[in-house]
Amino acid sequence: MRIQYLLIFFLVLTTTSALPLDDNKNPFAGDSSAAIEGKRLFLKVGCYSCHGHEAEGAIGPDLTDDEWIYKPTDSMIFNTISNGRSGTVMASFSNDLSKDEIWKIVEFLRDKNRQRRKLEVTPK
Ligand code: HEC
Repeated sequence: MRIQYLLIFFLVLTTTSALPLDDNKNPFAGDSSAAIEGKRLFLKVGCYSCHGHEAEGAIGPDLTDDEWIYKPTDSMIFNTISNGRSGTVMASFSNDLSKDEIWKIVEFLRDKNRQRRKLEVTPK
């Protein structure tokens, strides 16, 4: 009997610790004031110097279009900003930005992408 309880205990322990701590979900998804704050941070920490003031691309890639090196999930964008891309000039920003600040930048980029799509599908 005891061993079964022990097994259940471990099962609960391992499954709950395996759950993502909501880390790859943007807590600011769809929040337009967070997107505005994200833009301010994007300019403040110097992302614009490589990606352009409107994230339209320069030395670094355009971050508003549908062309991405990796599948553009919120967590991919988050991880790229947080960890950088080794072997490229895309550095890690985890010392300069808090998690919330990174998520706001993710929302800023998402928002730009949505606006751009809207513009592209609107008939002239
Ligand atoms: C020194 C130039 C530079 C700066 C500053 C910089 N980036 Fe980048 N960034 C790059 C380059 C180059 C790449 C392409 C990396 C690769 O080839 O994987 C990149 C890639 C990315 C990507 C992934 C694009 C894709 O298609 O997968 C994101 C998102 C991104 N940067 C966001 C940011 C944000 C946000 C900041 C500011 C916090 C920032 N970058 C600052 C140069 C820069």
